[in-house]
Amino acid sequence: MTDLFDVIHAQRAHRAFADRPVADADLARILDAAVYAPSAENKQPWEFVVVRDPAGRAAIGALIERAWNSAGKAFSHTRLSPALLTDVDAGATGGIAAAPVHIVVGADTERGLRQTVAESIFPAVQNLMLAAGAIGLGTALTTIAVGYADELRAIVGFPETVRPMAVIPVGYPARPLGPPAREPFAHHTHRDRYGDRWA
Ligand SMILES: Cc1cc2nc3c(=O)[nH]c(=O)nc-3n(C[C@H](O)[C@H](O)[C@H](O)COP(=O)(O)O)c2cc1C
Repeated sequence: MTDLFDVIHAQRAHRAFADRPVADADLARILDAAVYAPSAENKQPWEFVVVRDPAGRAAIGALIERAWNSAGKAFSHTRLSPALLTDVDAGATGGIAAAPVHIVVGADTERGLRQTVAESIFPAVQNLMLAAGAIGLGTALTTIAVGYADELRAIVGFPETVRPMAVIPVGYPARPLGPPAREPFAHHTHRDRYGDRWA
């Protein structure tokens, strides 16, 4: 799939992965796409740790599971639809851990513009995920583990100056997911002033 609009319209959060390895060349392609993103002052404050090591992935998976079971699940219980809650729960309790690759994304708070370092990371994350989708890989943007920043730093070796921002599991999807459920853009778009709806 190479049409950009097709890729965008197919992007989903994948939390279950096939037992199939991902080639380094494919990881290089999606990381290359990531770094073509914009960033404030073009400081490119992103740092990526590509975790293939089973011990590292198990530690990240355990951290996600702990974060989910200690607070995330109770918080999300009444907020998420039953289907999404089931999917997130399955992801947090083994689905994400089973991905053959985890990409931990950090923000270098010394290199980046302090006020916008967080905002400068997520365009790169989205580029990476769209590029992954374009070559048949599944990803999910997850942030639950970044609440345990020190533990996540210790697992991947980030120094204190690099703030963990996201954990992205990468792998071939265990199964195809349907199209994303999204409201039409016109529901959230206004002409000239808020309230004068697009259509
Ligand atoms: C900022 C942010 C944080 C997220 N954190 C998590 C997370 O910790 N765990 C998880 O399973 N999904 C996480 N997600 C994924 C969302 O649940 C997902 O994008 C949303 O439900 C839409 O899913 P879909 O693209 O499959 O329709 C996160 C998404 C965003 C944008």
